[in-house]
Amino acid sequence: MKCVFLVLATLGLSLAREVSTYDHFRLPTALRPQKYDVRILTQLENPEDFRFNGTVKIQIEVLQNTRNITLHSKDLAINDTEIALSEVGGEGKPGNCIASTEVNPTHDFYILNTCKELLAGQVYELSLHFSAKLEDQLSGYYRSSYEDAVANETRWISVTQFEPASARLAFPCFDEPGYKASFAITLGYHQKYTGLSNMPVKETRPHESIPDYVWTAFEDSVPMSTYLVAYSVNDFSHKPTTLPNGTLFRTWARPNAIDQSDYAAQFGPKVLQYYEQLFGTKFPLPKVDQIAVPDFSAGAMENWGLVTYAEFTLLYSPEYSSIEAKKGTANIVAHELAHQWFGNLVTMKWWTDLWLNEGFATYVANLGVEDIHPEWRTLQLNSISDLLTIFRTDSLESSHPISRPIEMTSQISESFDDISYQKGSSVIRMMHLFLGEETFRTGLKSYLERYAYKNAEQDNLWESLTQAAHKTGSLPTDYDIKTIMDSWTLQTGYPVINVTRNYTARTARLSQERYLLNTDISRAHKGCWWVPLSYTSQEEKDFNNTAPKEWMECTETGESVSKTIRDLPGPDQWVIFNNQLSAPYKVNYDAQNWKLLIATLNSEEYQSIHVVNRAQLIHDVLYFAWTGEQDYEIALQLISYLQRERQLLPWKTALDNLSFLSSILRQTPNNMFYKSFIRKLITPIYEHMNGINDTDSSIQQHDKVLLKGMVANWACTYEVSDCVSQAVSYFRNWRLEANPDELNPVPLGVRGIVYCTAIEHGSDEDWDFLWTRYQKANVATEKMTILDSLACSLEVWVQQRYLERIFDAKGDIRKQASLVVFPSIASAKVGFFLAKKYLMENVDSISKFYHPQSESMADILRPFSELIFTRRDYDEFKDFIANSKEHLKDIEQAISQSLETMLINVQWKERNYESFTLAIKNLAEINLVSE
Ligand code: BES
Ligand code: ZN
Repeated sequence: MKCVFLVLATLGLSLAREVSTYDHFRLPTALRPQKYDVRILTQLENPEDFRFNGTVKIQIEVLQNTRNITLHSKDLAINDTEIALSEVGGEGKPGNCIASTEVNPTHDFYILNTCKELLAGQVYELSLHFSAKLEDQLSGYYRSSYEDAVANETRWISVTQFEPASARLAFPCFDEPGYKASFAITLGYHQKYTGLSNMPVKETRPHESIPDYVWTAFEDSVPMSTYLVAYSVNDFSHKPTTLPNGTLFRTWARPNAIDQSDYAAQFGPKVLQYYEQLFGTKFPLPKVDQIAVPDFSAGAMENWGLVTYAEFTLLYSPEYSSIEAKKGTANIVAHELAHQWFGNLVTMKWWTDLWLNEGFATYVANLGVEDIHPEWRTLQLNSISDLLTIFRTDSLESSHPISRPIEMTSQISESFDDISYQKGSSVIRMMHLFLGEETFRTGLKSYLERYAYKNAEQDNLWESLTQAAHKTGSLPTDYDIKTIMDSWTLQTGYPVINVTRNYTARTARLSQERYLLNTDISRAHKGCWWVPLSYTSQEEKDFNNTAPKEWMECTETGESVSKTIRDLPGPDQWVIFNNQLSAPYKVNYDAQNWKLLIATLNSEEYQSIHVVNRAQLIHDVLYFAWTGEQDYEIALQLISYLQRERQLLPWKTALDNLSFLSSILRQTPNNMFYKSFIRKLITPIYEHMNGINDTDSSIQQHDKVLLKGMVANWACTYEVSDCVSQAVSYFRNWRLEANPDELNPVPLGVRGIVYCTAIEHGSDEDWDFLWTRYQKANVATEKMTILDSLACSLEVWVQQRYLERIFDAKGDIRKQASLVVFPSIASAKVGFFLAKKYLMENVDSISKFYHPQSESMADILRPFSELIFTRRDYDEFKDFIANSKEHLKDIEQAISQSLETMLINVQWKERNYESFTLAIKNLAEINLVSE
């Protein structure tokens, strides 16, 4: 029993509120919250006055004597006169009180100075009343809406998005991941709605004074971080499933979209069960809800027991969504449910280790999807895609280590990037492959058990894995995971291994250096990595063995040690390092080894090299040509083998790489040579895949559908064969349908390409037709495909009108969709100059449009980086950024990466443009198509 000793009313109506002198970005460590009681009343009925008000009671344990309670609160009106502080179990003792309050707006602190010192060992209960407007800012507690077509009405709902630091916008709290506590949430709302939160409903009763309102109380949560708390008031429908272990699994969507939730409703429970078995730990909550939110800033959010999604990521319509979209749904559900263990059960101590959340969820999601849909070959495809992504991002000087110091809230948001996700996932995959299945699982299980409901740092993971590895013998006893992995997580970048063979001695000498795209910067002394060396040779061809035969080591002071490999084959046999790209490094060989590889690739025997290593060779050689370590002649000789290639991965790798060249070349007079080069490259595979003529259902293999889509995209862009005429005729047939919203003859896998091509080659009426389809579509994935394609117009005025439409807050395009459309316009053939001008003239209003989601400006800026390649444009952009500091202040990382990418393009243009053009001209003389 606790007793209220003091209510602040005794101090008068309002406390002095000053700006605090405490200016460190972290909360003081004297206090620890144990339990929150949060009651929120949400008013959604009056569109003129959307608001919420609430009470939070926090039980706070005192760890060190202190005279203040410092917590987070942002944009909340806290009623100073109603603050109460009482000692739990302190009956009969003299009371304490709040003498004054202060704020620190920089760090969102709300500081309550107590009358008397709070003493270590005591537990206090603090009670605060607050209120705020329910805005549409997509963070904190916010509102969203959808149109009820039958009633012709707008329906309003509310939902939360707290990660990384927005719980403080919804209720005063200790908003850092290390402060885990139990949450008892109670929601008040009109009875026509449903209230959802992390835990199941405990009881619902009528509101004491507001007619037709109810209070719904939810069970106490398990100990968790504030960023995982969630609640929503909505009038959605749902599909329930019950797992064999009794967990209730429900999938929610607006009523007129609930029929699109079947796939997610089936997939979710399956993958949850898979994880229970993979991690050897039961899902700890009695239920999971997953909900499709119409307005949502991220793709999805893993709130414990109430996972929120953007509609287009969760909902799948077999009639309107592509197989790619289905795979996206599987992947995102698998990702968020993986977080229920990695992130929710065991949470990083501080955002420095965000990668432990995101890298794990990214990697483990691949295992989950692979288990349920082995036919998609997700594990291989996604793992390699992740590597290809970081091989680019992490070769920038302006990249950063996986584990990075975080000192400002904006840096937390910036950490949700390729490095935390894709590099995180890639180094975890590397460990999985060098440790083997059993050690990896045992190590993870013991880590999850040891830190369940607690917080951990990467060192804790290293320790669990080292113990498991030494027990199973999968790592030499004089090696430990920390030494190896620190070289990957505490240093920026990744190495290129230079392999020089001695063909008579049958040895190879290996050295390493950091691979950098920026050739103005020296690579010397830029780090050392512990590299697991798997390799095979032309006679052995054992690509399946991904366990390291040797390691490249570093000295204690971090210097690299060169390595000699023995017993290699003779001068007529190639060797390949890094079987199936099992670790994130590039490999460069001596000229003779490249020659041998190129000969095999350009022969009937090309498949004797594993498909992933074929992709690796393409990737490496194109990068080495870009940075000048290899001639374009050699690189093009190598990729000319693609005329035989029929697999997705090598094609994806080649085309992803070539797209950087396409962005530059298409703005130069030599584009005609490049165009004919691409046409020759694409034609055989385009014809082999029967153009864009087949329907999806006639193609059994999933990656063939993806390959077809990718090839068709290039074929229509470069006007290969009948691509454009076929696309235009599909579109024309669609326009002829009496009811085009019901019947669409365009095959699902190529809809985006067909729409884009038809808009590019079509009329204003075609644009308007497609825009109307957008307005009428009820499927979010179809809406996104259409929005993207509308950016393909070649009409300047149409593009200009579209630009204005996307930033119209009252228009038909939702905010998060605008972040997809603007980059599409900027990268479209005639969109670049318009988008650039628009941004430069309107940066002020654009940044206001996204406020307070200032990190959105990174998505607006990024598309320009691939498209700028002259010093003049680069300087112009740099000036623009310098003059717009105020609007771009929270995206420093994106700015430096964009500027560096532009500089790399400038370097390429100055160094390689002529030699590359010469190489493709020469190639034109050799007939690529001949077989
Ligand atoms: N935890 C994130 C959501 C998030 C992202 C919160 C950025 C705050 C800032 C979630 O688990 C996530 O990673 N979502 C991804 C999807 C995933 C499949 C890569 C997203 O939203 O893009
Ligand atoms: Zn995630």
